[in-house]
Amino acid sequence: MPGAIYAEGLVKTFGDVTALDGVDLDVPEGTVLGLLGPNGAGKTTTVRVLTTLLQPDRGTAVVAGIDVLKHPNEVRRSIGLSGQFAAVDEYLTGRENLHMVGQLYQLNGKAAKARAGELLDRFNLADAADRPAKTYSGGMRRRLDLAAALVVSPPVMFMDEPTTGLDPRNRQQLWEVIQELVAGGTTLLLTTQYLEEADRLAHDICVVDHGKVIARGSSDQLKARTGGERVEVVVHQGDQIAPARDVLAGFGKGEVAIEEHTRRLTVPVTGGAKLLAEVIRELDTRGVEIDDIGLRRPTLDDVFISLTGHAAEAPPEEGGEDADVTPKPRKEAAK
Ligand SMILES: Nc1ncnc2c1ncn2[C@@H]1O[C@H](COP(=O)(O)OP(=O)(O)OP(=O)(O)O)[C@@H](O)[C@H]1O
Ligand SMILES: [Mg+2]
Repeated sequence: MPGAIYAEGLVKTFGDVTALDGVDLDVPEGTVLGLLGPNGAGKTTTVRVLTTLLQPDRGTAVVAGIDVLKHPNEVRRSIGLSGQFAAVDEYLTGRENLHMVGQLYQLNGKAAKARAGELLDRFNLADAADRPAKTYSGGMRRRLDLAAALVVSPPVMFMDEPTTGLDPRNRQQLWEVIQELVAGGTTLLLTTQYLEEADRLAHDICVVDHGKVIARGSSDQLKARTGGERVEVVVHQGDQIAPARDVLAGFGKGEVAIEEHTRRLTVPVTGGAKLLAEVIRELDTRGVEIDDIGLRRPTLDDVFISLTGHAAEAPPEEGGEDADVTPKPRKEAAK
């Protein structure tokens, strides 16, 4: 039986750009799918198709058991969406925004008010609740947008980069909210550039690049595919990177990755602690002074780099120069 979110062969082109090139997804009910991929990979386009905001050129999608292309209005009633750019009404206060969403979902006045109050507390917006949203910081807007997506608890939720621009404490709190939602049976598709977030929240992960799913599995499965342990060395001075690379290349089972500005070198190895001791001795023999050295398991970042050829880029913070996007009411974002 297909899961709560199901897609087969989604294709979407914009002129010369193939945003989706045959995306298949199947998310079992009550689980979290993390959709990862570099900028421009097709994550937002996938979310927009699944949430009825965009028609694909080809393919099928079923959300909460309803055909997305045939019955978009019914799908809309069964889902919640928090988009990549916060969609709040600037001129309303935080409380009024949430109240309005409650009324759109046909909560009665009292219930809508109570729910708004609860969410304002939950998202640390109580103090700013009665100020217009246009006076909010980027992170506050994002939290208000997330709160709006949670006014009613739909069976299927989509969150496109929900924690971008949130400070660590608010990010942590959102993770807790998400975990509670999922424990309550909600199915969630989440896109993120924070691999730690996918590691922590997602049951399954799909890595997309150029509109195609290039890997899928649990975080542990993807890490296992990327190979065993890594030796990571931080050398004391920049001119010691070259000799350290030669040493690591002699012990490694793959390419030596170098981060110049932190003077950090990493290489996949097999051999564990014994090998580490040999590496240290060899570095010492060659006169390479080290600030730090250790053995670690691959992270999702390593997986991402080995699959896509580059690191996950944290997108610009909201309110940053590249993010000059005027928040639009959600219905206007639909095309
Ligand atoms: N409305 C549009 N018109 C033209 N091209 C578009 C449109 N929407 C998306 N694209 C293109 O489709 C590709 C996929 O974009 P998408 O927004 O899905 O990427 P993304 O994975 O969400 O990236 P990011 O991490 O930057 O949010 C990109 O090349 C983008 O430029
Ligand atoms: Mg996006």
